[in-house]
Formats: sequence, C-alpha cells, structure tokens
Amino acid sequence: MSIRRLPPELINRIAAGEVVERPASALKELVENSLDAGATQVAVRLSAGGLERVEVTDDGCGMRPDEMRLALERHATSKLPGDAIDQVTSFGFRGEALPSIASVARLTLESRVRGSDGWRVEVDHGVPAGEGPAALPPGTRTRVEGLFDKVPARRKFLRTPRAEYAACLDAVKRLAMARSDVAFTLDHDGRRILTLQPSDAPARVAALLAHELDRNGIGIDVARDGLRLTGVISLPTFNRGVADQQFLFVNSRPVKDRLLVGALRAAYRDLLARDRHPIAALFVEVPLDEVDVNVHPAKTEVRFRDASAVRGLIVGGLRRALDEESQRSAAREQAAAPVMWTSSASYDAGLNGHPRESGDPPSSSPFEGRQAPAFAGVTGVAEDQRLFDHAPAARAEPAVEAVPSYPLGVARGQVNATYIVAEAEDGLVIVDQHAAHERLVLERMRAAREGGAVARQALLLPEVVELDEPDCDRLEGAASELADLGLDVERFGASAMLVRAVPAALGKTDIPGLLADLAAEIAELGGALLLRDKLDHVAATIACHGSVRAGRVLSVAEMNALLREMEVTPRSGQCNHGRPTWVKLAHSDLEKLFGRR
Ligand SMILES: Nc1ncnc2c1ncn2[C@@H]1O[C@H](COP(=O)(O)OP(=O)(O)O)[C@@H](O)[C@H]1O
Ligand SMILES: [Mg+2]
Repeated sequence: MSIRRLPPELINRIAAGEVVERPASALKELVENSLDAGATQVAVRLSAGGLERVEVTDDGCGMRPDEMRLALERHATSKLPGDAIDQVTSFGFRGEALPSIASVARLTLESRVRGSDGWRVEVDHGVPAGEGPAALPPGTRTRVEGLFDKVPARRKFLRTPRAEYAACLDAVKRLAMARSDVAFTLDHDGRRILTLQPSDAPARVAALLAHELDRNGIGIDVARDGLRLTGVISLPTFNRGVADQQFLFVNSRPVKDRLLVGALRAAYRDLLARDRHPIAALFVEVPLDEVDVNVHPAKTEVRFRDASAVRGLIVGGLRRALDEESQRSAAREQAAAPVMWTSSASYDAGLNGHPRESGDPPSSSPFEGRQAPAFAGVTGVAEDQRLFDHAPAARAEPAVEAVPSYPLGVARGQVNATYIVAEAEDGLVIVDQHAAHERLVLERMRAAREGGAVARQALLLPEVVELDEPDCDRLEGAASELADLGLDVERFGASAMLVRAVPAALGKTDIPGLLADLAAEIAELGGALLLRDKLDHVAATIACHGSVRAGRVLSVAEMNALLREMEVTPRSGQCNHGRPTWVKLAHSDLEKLFGRR
C-alpha cells in the first residue's frame, strides 16, 4: 500500500460530494455569495430545474480578475480576514463552493468592480477554459452548466427537472426569507416565478408562505436570556401531510437543524396527529459565541452551546402561543369552522388531505386544512327520502322559546348517537361527542395533576443518569416541583442525577431520555412543562378510554353539561389529535345552503 497526496482536482471533486448534491445546493452557494458580496438585488435564472443551467446575477461588490482566479482555488475566501471562525456573520467562510462546483460542471464567472471593466473566467470540470473581457454592470454573474454531466455516479442521483426545480425554489425561498431587505427575482425556463421587493421579515414571510396563514397563523415574538424567537406558526387545525413548509433560521442563516425541527414538533405534541405537520417560519437569534456554524459542509446544521436553552425557548414559547390562541378561538367561536363549511363546495379535493410528493413544486395554494365531510343532506333528495322509511337515527328535543346566549348553544338533539346538535344565538352547532369528551377528560387530569395529586412509583434500584453539568443544575433546582409531579431526583456528583421514583402513570419509561428532555424544558420555563407533556401522552390514552364513546345515547342534561364544560375548558376546540371537536354553521351559512342568499 502506498500513500500519496491527492491531486487538487480530486480533492475538489471529493469536496463537491459534500457541498454540491444537486442544482439546488449549487444555487444556494451562489446566492449566498451574492448576499455576502453586499448585493441589494439577486436575479436567479434556471433552465430545466437547474440541470441545464443555474445562473445568479448580483449587484454586489464584484471581483477583480486576480480575485476571480483566486476565488476558484480551494480554501480561498475573503470572509475570514481575522481568522475568527467563531465570529462568522457571512454565509460562506470555507472557500470551498466555487472550486467544488467548478470541478463537476462548466462554470463561468463574470464580474466587475465599480469603476473598472468586467472580466470573465471559465472553468470546465476543474480545468481552466479561458478568460477575457466581459460586458456587465457592476456586480457578479455566475453560471453553472451541465452539473454532473461528466460524473455519471452523481448524475444518476439527480431527479426529474420538476423535482430539481422544486428544490431550487425552496432554496431561493429560504434565502429570500433570511434576507428580506434584498430584492429577488427567479426565472425558470424563461418564466418569471418570483418577484420580491425589499421589505421587512413579516411581509417577506407572508409573501412566500400562502396567504391563508393571515387567518390561520399565530405571530411569535419571545425573548429570554439573550435568545430571541420571532416568526409565525400555523394553528394546529391548519396543517400539512408533509413537513415541507417549515422555514427555520439561526441568526439569519437558513438551517435544517434536527434540534429545531424536533422542538417545533414537540410544541404541537398533543395538538397534531403524528403524520401531520405544522407550517412555520421561525427566526432564532443567539449571541455569536453561543453557536457554532462550522459543523456541516453545507452549513445547514449548527451546534448550540446551550442546546437545552434554545429548545426550551422554542417549545415553551410556541406552546404558550398555541394555548393562548386556543383559548381565544374557543371563546370567540372556532375560526376554521365556517371556512370548512363554505369550502366543501369550492375546495380542490385533489389538494386536500393527500400529501403531494414532497418534490413537487407547490401549487398556488400549498396549504391543506382538515376538511369537514361534505354536508350530504343538501345533495340527493331521493336518497334522503329513504331515511324516512327507517326509524330516525336522531332524537330531538322540543325547542324552548328563548335561546340563552351560550357560545355553544343549547342541545337540541343527537344524531347517530355520535353528534350533538345545538342551537346557538347565531347559528347551528354540531359537536363530535367523543372527540370533545376525550379532550375534557385530558384537561381534567391535567388540572388534577397541577393540584398535586399524582401517584409515584418508587424504583427498586435508584437509577443514575449522566447529564451535562448545566442540565444537572437545572434538574436539581427544580427538584421540588418535579417531586410534586411524582418524580424524585437528587444530585449525584457533578454530572449525574439519581432518580428514586417516577410518576406511576408513566409506567416503564426511558428515564435518561425523560431527564434530558426535562432539563431542556426547565431551561425555558423554570418549571416542568415537559414532564406534564409526557404525562399528557399517557393521560391522552387513558382519557380516550375513559371518554364517552361515539355511539352512546346521551340525555339532554348530559349533552348540555358537555357543552358548558367545553366552553370553560382550555383547548377544547380540538381533540387530542388536533381535529376540531365542533363546527358552527352560522345563520348566514344556513341561508346560503338553502339558496336564500
Ligand atoms: N457573487 C460574488 N461577488 C463577489 N465576490 C464573490 C462572489 N462569489 C464569490 N466571491 C468571492 O469568492 C470567494 C470564494 O467563494 P466561495 O468558494 O463560495 O467561498 P466562501 O463563500 O466560503 O468564501 C469568496 O470569499 C468571495 O471573495
Ligand atoms: Mg460561498
């Protein structure tokens, strides 16, 4: 075996394997370079999803000819003047992108510094392919053609132009959200796809996420211990079958970080079914020395010095916002309900409920909501007639004269032993009795726990759990609250905790995992929200079994009691899986159904 130093072309090809995966990753690097160059306008042009051509033009600082040649060499960068890699504010800093891309494609770099002439340098698969004068306004134009054309091993991992285009669009959207102060255009195969004027972050996010989020989104702005979280998230009822509408940023850098994605997921834990995903654009700001951006070649992952604090800020902040919103919507009447009713006629059924292939480009309306079943009663009169041949499946109560002003109205009857029909001042309310009761039981159990009545299970052998010192400090500080919830922990040396008892409701549980999650939660709340959530998980299952099942006949008194309890219970507008527990058909909706309006 003989050891040799690899030739530079091969080193670049190897690096390209990490940095350039597909046209979208090359595009991302080029746009980042434009932004780092101080561009106020970035124009992106693609052909065949970027497989044929990716071109980025900017009005940034430009490069002189000698700088252009240097830029194409490996580890050449203008972005680390002081060698301070822990203080990076630019997107790039590794000096790898251009030589890597140039090693697996044809790359044309044209650039002009203000006050001098333009120049062009070409490289074909790592080999210089000529240079000369170029005519262009101040700034830089970088063109990448035939990516992986001569690298069959990589070429075969590329997907259809359509799927590659979707990935490119996603990359542009992320960077455009990160830098709302910069104007962007995107053209694909000669068609203008995006035109974005400089704006503030909320306006830019609104322009790039579908407008439905105006009504179905919750604005976020929380700060704690030098960390700040801003952005927008969707109501639990406004969700998607794929997690493709989650835009996460750390200090304006778009990331696809597992910690952040996990925290977002955790915030929605008992509000969404497992296979449904929220929509979110979230911006995390942390002090530069609290985060390491140099852990991933494409810089899409970061490492936080205090990951627990970041996770805690996100889970706690979003959770509070979701709770507040659910109380608001329960009080004013569920915002999504009228939409679902009126939309049953106009909805594009192909879009709804069927997750699109994640690579497909978004349509004009990329959002999905949970759709209420179509109101069968208005369609077939002949069919309905047959109902009267059978004993009716619904019971009705005689109407009283005045309808007292309860938001959910007074019970008028039960349909199919599953749905409660109630009359409210402003319309007709239909309640899914099982879904509603399940939520009530869960919230009751929650309240009991908060009252301190939790059974604990002593461990035969206390368990030692090793953790970071800051996490141990947090758990130790919260030991008495944890004990109230049935979890007995004590400090065991510098970086371990001793667990003597766990809440009985948890049964056999992953204790180290529980403690790690708890420490993260405490970082934000100084309390034990996560334990509460874990118990909720168990509680939700118990609640489901303990609930009024669909199919049970209820008395009027029982129905009214259920409605009254729903009105005063937080989060009662959604079942434990995020589906609505009730819908309201306003008088105006009824009039529309019967063509009176
Ligand atoms: N659009 C551009 N405008 C001005 N300078 C650029 C542009 N693109 C690249 N450069 C220069 O080329 C260098 C190398 O770019 P790159 O290979 O992406 O590495 P990095 O961005 O990590 O520095 C940059 O540091 C920058 O000086
Ligand atoms: Mg770069």
